[in-house]
Amino acid sequence: MVALARALRPAATNSTFADDVLAGLKATPKRLAAKYFYDAEGSLLFERITELPEYYPTRCEMQILREKGAEIAKLIAPSSALVEFGSGSNKKVRLLLRRAPQLAAYVPVDICGEMVEHEEADLRRDFPKLNIEPVVADICLPFALPPAAAASPRRIGFFPGSTIGNFEPHEAAGFLRNAADILGPGATLIVGADLIKATNILHAAYNDAQGVTAKFNKNLLVRINRELHGNFKLDQFEHHAFFNRERSRIEMHLASKKKQKAKVAGHTIEFRAGETIHTENSYKYSLESLSALARGVGWMPCAHWIDPMGYFSIQAFTLSNAAR
Ligand SMILES: C[S@@+](CC[C@H](N)C(=O)[O-])C[C@H]1O[C@@H](n2cnc3c(N)ncnc32)[C@H](O)[C@@H]1O
Repeated sequence: MVALARALRPAATNSTFADDVLAGLKATPKRLAAKYFYDAEGSLLFERITELPEYYPTRCEMQILREKGAEIAKLIAPSSALVEFGSGSNKKVRLLLRRAPQLAAYVPVDICGEMVEHEEADLRRDFPKLNIEPVVADICLPFALPPAAAASPRRIGFFPGSTIGNFEPHEAAGFLRNAADILGPGATLIVGADLIKATNILHAAYNDAQGVTAKFNKNLLVRINRELHGNFKLDQFEHHAFFNRERSRIEMHLASKKKQKAKVAGHTIEFRAGETIHTENSYKYSLESLSALARGVGWMPCAHWIDPMGYFSIQAFTLSNAAR
Protein backbone atom coordinates (compact mmCIF):
# COMPACT_ATOMS: atom_id res chain seq x y z
CA MET A 1 0.00 0.00 0.00
CA VAL A 2 1.28 3.49 -0.81
CA ALA A 3 2.43 5.18 2.38
CA LEU A 4 0.28 7.65 4.23
CA ALA A 5 2.62 10.40 3.08
CA ARG A 6 0.31 10.57 0.12
CA ALA A 7 -2.63 11.55 2.23
CA LEU A 8 -0.61 13.62 4.68
CA ARG A 9 1.34 15.52 2.08
CA PRO A 10 -0.17 15.50 -1.41
CA ALA A 11 2.68 15.82 -3.92
CA ALA A 12 1.01 18.66 -5.78
CA THR A 13 -2.49 19.73 -4.94
CA ASN A 14 -4.49 21.32 -7.72
CA SER A 15 -4.24 24.70 -6.07
CA THR A 16 -0.41 24.50 -5.83
CA PHE A 17 -0.33 23.49 -9.48
CA ALA A 18 -2.68 26.37 -10.44
CA ASP A 19 -0.74 28.93 -8.37
CA ASP A 20 2.63 27.82 -9.75
CA VAL A 21 1.41 27.73 -13.35
CA LEU A 22 -0.21 31.16 -13.17
CA ALA A 23 2.82 32.70 -11.45
CA GLY A 24 5.12 31.14 -14.06
CA LEU A 25 3.02 32.22 -17.04
CA LYS A 26 2.74 35.78 -15.71
CA ALA A 27 6.50 36.04 -15.08
CA THR A 28 9.01 37.45 -17.56
CA PRO A 29 10.37 35.32 -19.12
CA LYS A 30 7.55 32.75 -18.83
CA ARG A 31 8.49 29.50 -17.11
CA LEU A 32 7.01 26.31 -15.69
CA ALA A 33 8.57 23.86 -13.22
CA ALA A 34 9.79 20.61 -14.80
CA LYS A 35 8.22 18.55 -11.98
CA TYR A 36 4.82 19.28 -13.54
CA PHE A 37 5.71 17.22 -16.63
CA TYR A 38 5.06 14.09 -14.63
CA ASP A 39 1.36 13.39 -14.68
CA ALA A 40 0.44 9.82 -15.69
CA GLU A 41 0.83 10.56 -19.42
CA GLY A 42 4.05 12.55 -18.91
CA SER A 43 5.59 9.67 -16.95
CA LEU A 44 4.75 7.24 -19.77
CA LEU A 45 6.18 9.63 -22.35
CA PHE A 46 9.37 9.90 -20.29
CA GLU A 47 9.65 6.10 -20.33
CA ARG A 48 9.38 6.22 -24.15
CA ILE A 49 12.14 8.86 -24.24
CA THR A 50 14.45 6.54 -22.30
CA GLU A 51 14.15 3.98 -25.11
CA LEU A 52 14.94 6.36 -27.99
CA PRO A 53 18.15 5.76 -29.95
CA GLU A 54 19.27 9.37 -29.39
CA TYR A 55 18.65 9.34 -25.62
CA TYR A 56 21.95 7.96 -24.33
CA PRO A 57 21.61 8.84 -20.57
CA THR A 58 19.44 5.86 -19.58
CA ARG A 59 21.51 3.33 -21.54
CA CYS A 60 24.78 4.69 -20.11
CA GLU A 61 23.52 4.76 -16.53
CA MET A 62 22.06 1.24 -16.85
CA GLN A 63 25.40 0.04 -18.23
CA ILE A 64 27.24 1.42 -15.19
CA LEU A 65 24.70 -0.19 -12.86
CA ARG A 66 24.95 -3.53 -14.68
CA GLU A 67 28.74 -3.56 -14.74
CA LYS A 68 29.50 -1.89 -11.40
CA GLY A 69 26.32 -2.71 -9.47
CA ALA A 70 28.06 -5.20 -7.18
CA GLU A 71 30.66 -2.59 -6.25
CA ILE A 72 28.02 0.09 -5.73
CA ALA A 73 25.90 -2.29 -3.62
CA LYS A 74 28.86 -2.65 -1.22
CA LEU A 75 28.07 0.89 -0.07
CA ILE A 76 24.79 -0.42 1.36
CA ALA A 77 25.24 -1.20 5.06
CA PRO A 78 23.49 -4.24 6.63
CA SER A 79 19.83 -3.68 7.56
CA SER A 80 19.76 -0.27 5.96
CA ALA A 81 16.88 1.31 4.03
CA LEU A 82 17.27 2.49 0.45
CA VAL A 83 15.30 5.65 -0.39
CA GLU A 84 14.98 6.38 -4.11
CA PHE A 85 14.25 10.01 -5.01
CA GLY A 86 12.19 10.44 -8.22
CA SER A 87 11.82 6.68 -8.62
CA GLY A 88 9.72 6.66 -11.82
CA SER A 89 9.65 3.17 -13.36
CA ASN A 90 12.14 1.72 -10.79
CA LYS A 91 14.05 -0.02 -13.55
CA LYS A 92 17.48 1.18 -12.45
CA VAL A 93 17.09 0.45 -8.77
CA ARG A 94 16.24 -3.18 -9.57
CA LEU A 95 19.88 -3.63 -10.59
CA LEU A 96 20.89 -2.59 -7.06
CA LEU A 97 18.10 -4.36 -5.18
CA ARG A 98 19.10 -7.69 -6.74
CA ARG A 99 22.61 -7.23 -5.38
CA ALA A 100 21.68 -6.00 -1.94
CA PRO A 101 20.01 -8.76 0.09
CA GLN A 102 21.27 -6.91 3.20
CA LEU A 103 18.60 -4.21 2.69
CA ALA A 104 15.83 -3.97 5.28
CA ALA A 105 13.54 -1.67 3.31
CA TYR A 106 13.12 0.12 -0.01
CA VAL A 107 11.26 3.44 -0.26
CA PRO A 108 10.44 4.61 -3.81
CA VAL A 109 9.50 8.31 -3.68
CA ASP A 110 7.94 10.15 -6.61
CA ILE A 111 5.65 13.09 -7.29
CA CYS A 112 3.61 10.99 -9.73
CA GLY A 113 1.20 8.89 -7.64
CA GLU A 114 -0.01 6.91 -10.66
CA MET A 115 3.54 5.80 -11.47
CA VAL A 116 4.27 4.81 -7.87
CA GLU A 117 1.06 2.75 -7.69
CA HIS A 118 1.63 1.23 -11.11
CA GLU A 119 5.09 -0.08 -10.18
CA GLU A 120 4.28 -1.24 -6.66
CA ALA A 121 2.72 -4.64 -7.47
CA ASP A 122 5.59 -5.66 -9.78
CA LEU A 123 8.16 -4.68 -7.18
CA ARG A 124 6.41 -6.71 -4.47
CA ARG A 125 6.19 -9.71 -6.79
CA ASP A 126 9.87 -9.49 -7.77
CA PHE A 127 11.24 -8.74 -4.28
CA PRO A 128 8.87 -10.65 -1.97
CA LYS A 129 11.20 -10.56 1.05
CA LEU A 130 11.89 -6.84 0.87
CA ASN A 131 9.90 -4.36 2.92
CA ILE A 132 8.63 -1.94 0.23
CA GLU A 133 7.20 1.35 1.47
CA PRO A 134 6.27 3.72 -1.40
CA VAL A 135 5.77 7.43 -0.79
CA VAL A 136 4.18 10.07 -3.01
CA ALA A 137 5.90 13.36 -2.20
CA ASP A 138 7.85 16.29 -3.58
CA ILE A 139 11.48 15.35 -2.99
CA CYS A 140 12.45 19.01 -2.53
CA LEU A 141 10.25 19.28 0.56
CA PRO A 142 10.58 17.52 3.92
CA PHE A 143 8.62 14.27 4.19
CA ALA A 144 8.45 11.55 6.83
CA LEU A 145 9.96 8.16 6.11
CA PRO A 146 7.61 5.19 6.53
CA PRO A 147 8.07 2.96 9.62
CA ALA A 148 10.59 0.31 8.49
CA ALA A 149 12.84 2.88 6.82
CA ALA A 150 12.59 5.22 9.80
CA ALA A 151 13.51 2.35 12.15
CA SER A 152 16.48 1.13 10.12
CA PRO A 153 19.90 1.91 11.61
CA ARG A 154 21.18 3.57 8.41
CA ARG A 155 19.78 4.95 5.17
CA ILE A 156 21.12 5.19 1.65
CA GLY A 157 19.67 7.51 -0.97
CA PHE A 158 19.53 6.76 -4.69
CA PHE A 159 18.89 9.62 -7.12
CA PRO A 160 19.36 8.36 -10.69
CA GLY A 161 18.28 9.72 -14.09
CA SER A 162 20.19 13.01 -13.82
CA THR A 163 17.04 14.45 -12.25
CA ILE A 164 19.45 16.58 -10.20
CA GLY A 165 20.18 18.37 -13.49
CA ASN A 166 16.57 19.58 -13.65
CA PHE A 167 17.21 21.78 -10.64
CA GLU A 168 18.88 25.19 -10.72
CA PRO A 169 22.20 24.81 -8.84
CA HIS A 170 20.78 26.50 -5.72
CA GLU A 171 17.75 24.16 -5.90
CA ALA A 172 20.09 21.18 -6.27
CA ALA A 173 21.88 22.33 -3.11
CA GLY A 174 18.47 22.63 -1.42
CA PHE A 175 17.54 19.12 -2.53
CA LEU A 176 20.86 17.76 -1.19
CA ARG A 177 20.22 19.45 2.17
CA ASN A 178 16.69 18.03 2.30
CA ALA A 179 18.00 14.57 1.40
CA ALA A 180 20.55 14.86 4.22
CA ASP A 181 17.79 15.72 6.70
CA ILE A 182 15.60 12.84 5.50
CA LEU A 183 18.37 10.22 5.36
CA GLY A 184 20.08 11.29 8.60
CA PRO A 185 23.63 11.10 9.99
CA GLY A 186 26.00 8.56 8.44
CA ALA A 187 23.90 8.31 5.25
CA THR A 188 25.21 7.65 1.77
CA LEU A 189 23.74 9.17 -1.40
CA ILE A 190 24.23 7.75 -4.90
CA VAL A 191 23.54 10.26 -7.66
CA GLY A 192 23.34 9.67 -11.41
CA ALA A 193 24.44 12.81 -13.28
CA ASP A 194 24.82 13.49 -16.98
CA LEU A 195 28.25 14.79 -17.99
CA ILE A 196 29.22 17.75 -20.19
CA LYS A 197 29.87 16.60 -23.76
CA ALA A 198 29.78 17.55 -27.43
CA THR A 199 26.84 19.78 -28.39
CA ASN A 200 25.63 17.57 -31.26
CA ILE A 201 25.19 14.54 -28.95
CA LEU A 202 23.32 16.62 -26.38
CA HIS A 203 21.21 18.30 -29.04
CA ALA A 204 20.12 14.99 -30.59
CA ALA A 205 19.15 13.56 -27.18
CA TYR A 206 16.57 16.33 -26.66
CA ASN A 207 15.43 16.65 -30.31
CA ASP A 208 14.66 13.05 -31.26
CA ALA A 209 13.59 12.21 -34.77
CA GLN A 210 10.30 10.61 -33.65
CA GLY A 211 9.23 13.75 -31.80
CA VAL A 212 8.63 12.00 -28.46
CA THR A 213 10.49 14.70 -26.50
CA ALA A 214 8.40 17.35 -28.26
CA LYS A 215 5.26 15.46 -27.23
CA PHE A 216 6.55 15.20 -23.64
CA ASN A 217 7.17 18.97 -23.63
CA LYS A 218 3.73 19.80 -25.08
CA ASN A 219 2.04 17.41 -22.65
CA LEU A 220 2.47 20.16 -20.06
CA LEU A 221 -0.01 22.28 -22.06
CA VAL A 222 -2.32 19.25 -22.36
CA ARG A 223 -2.19 18.90 -18.58
CA ILE A 224 -2.90 22.61 -18.06
CA ASN A 225 -5.84 22.43 -20.49
CA ARG A 226 -7.27 19.43 -18.65
CA GLU A 227 -6.61 20.34 -15.02
CA LEU A 228 -6.80 24.14 -15.13
CA HIS A 229 -9.46 24.71 -17.78
CA GLY A 230 -6.85 25.95 -20.24
CA ASN A 231 -7.38 26.46 -23.95
CA PHE A 232 -3.82 26.25 -25.31
CA LYS A 233 -3.82 25.29 -29.01
CA LEU A 234 -1.07 22.68 -29.20
CA ASP A 235 -0.36 23.23 -32.88
CA GLN A 236 0.41 26.89 -32.15
CA PHE A 237 3.45 26.04 -30.01
CA GLU A 238 6.69 24.31 -30.95
CA HIS A 239 9.30 22.38 -29.02
CA HIS A 240 12.70 24.12 -28.76
CA ALA A 241 15.67 22.43 -27.07
CA PHE A 242 19.28 23.61 -27.24
CA PHE A 243 22.51 23.44 -25.26
CA ASN A 244 23.42 26.65 -23.45
CA ARG A 245 27.14 25.96 -23.01
CA GLU A 246 27.79 29.05 -20.94
CA ARG A 247 25.36 27.76 -18.31
CA SER A 248 26.13 24.10 -19.01
CA ARG A 249 22.49 23.19 -19.50
CA ILE A 250 20.03 21.96 -22.06
CA GLU A 251 17.10 24.35 -22.12
CA MET A 252 13.69 23.18 -23.20
CA HIS A 253 11.07 25.73 -24.26
CA LEU A 254 7.65 25.89 -25.87
CA ALA A 255 7.69 28.69 -28.43
CA SER A 256 4.56 30.50 -29.53
CA LYS A 257 4.31 30.41 -33.33
CA LYS A 258 2.39 33.70 -33.41
CA LYS A 259 0.96 36.51 -31.29
CA GLN A 260 -1.86 34.86 -29.37
CA LYS A 261 -3.78 34.61 -26.10
CA ALA A 262 -4.58 31.57 -23.97
CA LYS A 263 -6.93 31.19 -21.02
CA VAL A 264 -5.76 29.36 -17.88
CA ALA A 265 -7.97 29.03 -14.79
CA GLY A 266 -9.92 32.14 -15.84
CA HIS A 267 -6.78 34.24 -16.48
CA THR A 268 -5.71 35.50 -19.90
CA ILE A 269 -2.07 34.93 -20.85
CA GLU A 270 -0.69 36.84 -23.82
CA PHE A 271 2.14 35.64 -26.07
CA ARG A 272 4.23 37.56 -28.58
CA ALA A 273 5.21 35.72 -31.78
CA GLY A 274 8.29 33.65 -30.89
CA GLU A 275 7.91 34.16 -27.13
CA THR A 276 8.72 31.01 -25.16
CA ILE A 277 7.72 29.25 -21.98
CA HIS A 278 10.90 27.85 -20.41
CA THR A 279 9.80 24.36 -19.35
CA GLU A 280 12.98 22.52 -18.35
CA ASN A 281 16.67 22.83 -17.69
CA SER A 282 18.91 19.83 -17.74
CA TYR A 283 22.21 20.87 -16.22
CA LYS A 284 25.29 18.89 -17.25
CA TYR A 285 27.94 18.44 -14.58
CA SER A 286 31.60 17.51 -14.42
CA LEU A 287 32.71 15.21 -11.59
CA GLU A 288 34.33 18.27 -10.00
CA SER A 289 31.34 20.62 -10.30
CA LEU A 290 28.89 18.15 -8.74
CA SER A 291 31.39 17.26 -6.00
CA ALA A 292 31.86 20.94 -5.18
CA LEU A 293 28.09 21.46 -4.97
CA ALA A 294 27.66 18.42 -2.71
CA ARG A 295 30.63 19.29 -0.48
CA GLY A 296 29.17 22.76 0.01
CA VAL A 297 26.17 21.25 1.82
CA GLY A 298 28.03 18.55 3.78
CA TRP A 299 28.06 15.54 1.42
CA MET A 300 31.61 14.20 1.00
CA PRO A 301 32.44 12.51 -2.33
CA CYS A 302 33.53 8.90 -1.74
CA ALA A 303 33.38 7.10 -5.12
CA HIS A 304 32.38 7.54 -8.72
CA TRP A 305 31.82 5.46 -11.84
CA ILE A 306 31.65 6.54 -15.49
CA ASP A 307 30.39 4.58 -18.52
CA PRO A 308 33.00 3.56 -21.15
CA MET A 309 31.94 6.40 -23.51
CA GLY A 310 32.48 8.96 -20.75
CA TYR A 311 28.93 10.28 -21.16
CA PHE A 312 27.36 9.65 -17.75
CA SER A 313 28.46 9.43 -14.12
CA ILE A 314 27.27 7.80 -10.94
CA GLN A 315 28.71 9.51 -7.91
CA ALA A 316 28.52 8.51 -4.24
CA PHE A 317 28.62 10.87 -1.29
CA THR A 318 28.54 10.34 2.47
CA LEU A 319 27.36 12.40 5.40
CA SER A 320 29.33 12.49 8.60
CA ASN A 321 27.98 10.55 11.58
CA ALA A 322 27.53 13.73 13.57
CA ALA A 323 23.98 15.13 13.67
CA ARG A 324 23.53 18.06 11.27
C1 LIG B 1 14.07 12.33 -15.26
S1 LIG B 1 12.84 11.27 -14.56
C2 LIG B 1 13.85 9.97 -13.92
C3 LIG B 1 13.08 8.73 -13.62
C4 LIG B 1 13.93 7.56 -13.13
N1 LIG B 1 14.49 7.84 -11.82
C5 LIG B 1 15.04 7.25 -14.09
O1 LIG B 1 16.20 7.38 -13.72
O2 LIG B 1 14.74 6.83 -15.22
C6 LIG B 1 12.42 12.19 -13.13
C7 LIG B 1 11.55 11.45 -12.13
O3 LIG B 1 11.49 12.21 -10.93
C8 LIG B 1 10.16 12.52 -10.60
N2 LIG B 1 10.19 13.89 -10.07
C9 LIG B 1 10.54 15.03 -10.72
N3 LIG B 1 10.50 16.08 -9.89
C10 LIG B 1 10.10 15.60 -8.68
C11 LIG B 1 9.86 16.19 -7.42
N4 LIG B 1 10.05 17.49 -7.20
N5 LIG B 1 9.47 15.37 -6.40
C12 LIG B 1 9.29 14.04 -6.58
N6 LIG B 1 9.50 13.42 -7.77
C13 LIG B 1 9.90 14.19 -8.80
C14 LIG B 1 9.36 12.38 -11.87
O4 LIG B 1 8.00 12.07 -11.63
C15 LIG B 1 10.12 11.26 -12.58
O5 LIG B 1 9.67 9.99 -12.22
